[in-house]
Parts: sequence; structure tokens; C-alpha cells
Amino acid sequence: MIFHNFSRLVLNWYHIHGRKNLPWQKDKTLYKVWISEIMLQQTQVKTVIPYFKKFILKFPNLNILNQANLNDILHLWSGLGYYTRAENIYKTAKIIKQKFNGKFPDNIVDLVQLPGIGKSTAGAILSFTLNYFYSILDGNVQRILIRHYGITKCSKNSETRKKLWNLIENITPLHHAGGFNQGIIDIGALICTHRIPKCDFCPLNLTCIAYKEKEWKKYSFQSSKKIKSTKKYWFIIIYFENKIWMQKNTIKRIWNNLFCFPMFNNKKQAIQWMKEHHINVKKYKKINSFHHEFSHFTMQANPILIKLFFQNNFFNINKQGIWYDLKKPQKIGVPTIVKKILKLLI
Ligand code: ADE
Ligand code: SF4
Repeated sequence: MIFHNFSRLVLNWYHIHGRKNLPWQKDKTLYKVWISEIMLQQTQVKTVIPYFKKFILKFPNLNILNQANLNDILHLWSGLGYYTRAENIYKTAKIIKQKFNGKFPDNIVDLVQLPGIGKSTAGAILSFTLNYFYSILDGNVQRILIRHYGITKCSKNSETRKKLWNLIENITPLHHAGGFNQGIIDIGALICTHRIPKCDFCPLNLTCIAYKEKEWKKYSFQSSKKIKSTKKYWFIIIYFENKIWMQKNTIKRIWNNLFCFPMFNNKKQAIQWMKEHHINVKKYKKINSFHHEFSHFTMQANPILIKLFFQNNFFNINKQGIWYDLKKPQKIGVPTIVKKILKLLI
């Protein structure tokens, strides 16, 4: 009974207040909804919108995307973060071409085998595009379920996930999964927010346990209280005739395949590198350090500027490095921090 009412309340709310004009909700295709869902996995709607529009303008369908190289995709992704997502899009396009004759899979079994697509993303793609009967379980949905059903002592583990999947699959309505899924995501993003939920406007407030007990802390994931560490990095910015030396990044987990200034974990390494490259280590100029937040750590960035006044043969274009032209920038993927540092310079 309570399940039945839950979906009715969410759907009715969705028809009146739900978001129906987001760019990926117009002329829906599996392809476009896929791109939007990958972007939305770790990024908010507001940030995603301009990136999504640019992406679809440049790569309107799978065929065109398949002609792109990874650099083209990373270039468009620059600043959005979590760059593995862009790589997964590149890989998925190739797999669909080879394995599915270029036709985007419209079933869950094939979808969940593609890089970057888990059960929830697959459910989102199929329910939003085709109204198929699948559920989604992202952070928003989890938060609502935990609060509404008053689930205590929740840790982020497979047991909790299983429990929440069962719950949401029981609630999702057979015939209107797309509207219901959008509705519950919108309630999570706009009303049942992480910090101060706007319960007075929530269609679920009559049956919500957290609201009844005025207990939001008790009904939330137990935080593991990890304190974010700060890691220091030194960036060497080599400037020569309006160009800057950039090379393929080597920090695997955050910037794989993006271009960046040569970077080091400590000053000693940076100086050693400069010596190896015949750079006069006494002549560098230090730029103010600043902090840049990642989800799992804080980066203290220490940029060092070196102006070259004559050609240094150590910096010839090769597979790993390029001279990035500030007047006519090449289309490469660069992380936000590179953009930040370039802004300090120009
Ligand atoms: N997050 C994930 N999918 C979404 C969607 N379709 N609309 C808004 N936020 C989302
Ligand atoms: Fe969330 Fe409040 Fe709605 Fe409960 S009543 S689901 S806590 S917004």
C-alpha cells in the first residue's frame, strides 16, 4: 500500500513540477540520453548543460562520434572533471560499432557491459528514452529512500545497496517508469536536498519518517569521517614565444591522457628535472600557490614560470609533448588547473 502511494505521489508531483525541458529531454535518443547520463554521473545539471549542448553540436550521433579521436572528446570534456568518463564514451562508441553494427543497444544486458554504464545508468537510459520499466538508484534516490523509510545505520556497502535496489524496484511503477524516475531525481535535487531539505514542499511529507521525527542526521549514510589530505604538486611552465610546453599527463587516476605542464610531487624533483633539461634553475619565477579541490584530496599547486629566450632542443615536439600555442590553442584536453594557471599568466 505504502509503495503504491509513493509512486503515485512522485508521478503527480512530476507532472506539475518535474523538469521536462532539459536539453537532453528534447528529441530524445538513446545516444543523447546516454551522453547526458554519463555527464550527470558526477556533475550537477547546471554545470552539465553547456557541456552537453557543445557535445551534441559537435557529435550529434554515434557515427560522427566514432570518427573522433580521444583528444577531440577530451578537449570538449576539459573542465568537467572525472575524465575517465570521456575515455569510456570513446571506448563505448568503438564497441557499439564493432559489436552492435553501430546501433545503440536498447536492452539492459548489453548496456551494462559497456564501459561506464552500470545498472543505474542503464536503467536511466532505457526508462528516460523508451519508458522501459527499469529503476535508477543514484545518490538522490538513495537519500530519499533512506529518509522516507527511516532506514538507520546505513553504510555504503553492498548489503545496503541490495536493500535499496529491492526497495526502489518495488516502488517503480510499471507503466510510467520514465516520469517516475525523473520525478524522484528532481525531488532529490530540488527538495530533498542533502543539507536542508525543503520538506514543506515535498509530495512525500505525509508518509516520510525522517520528516515525522524531524531527524535527518539519523537517517543518512554514516560518514566514514575521512579527512581529505592535501597533496603538493609543482608545475613547471615553460614559456617560449607565446607557446607553453605541455605533455601527456602521467597521474593515472585524475588526468589520464590530458595535457598538462610537467608536474612533480616535490620541489627537489622539479629542480632536478630543470637541470636535466638545461634550464637555468636560478632564473625561474615563482607564481603564487593555490588550492584546487578534488573529491578525494586537496591539491596545493605550486607553479613555477620559466621564460626561455632561445630555442632549447630538449623541448621539441614529440609524442609526449607539444608547444601549446596561446594565440592559436590546439584542440587538446586540459584539466581545469591548467586553465586556472594559464589565466594567472595571461
Ligand atoms: N541526474 C541523473 N539523471 C538526471 C536527469 N535525467 N535529470 C536531472 N538530473 C539527473
Ligand atoms: Fe526528504 Fe523531507 Fe520529503 Fe522526507 S519529507 S522525503 S526528508 S524532503
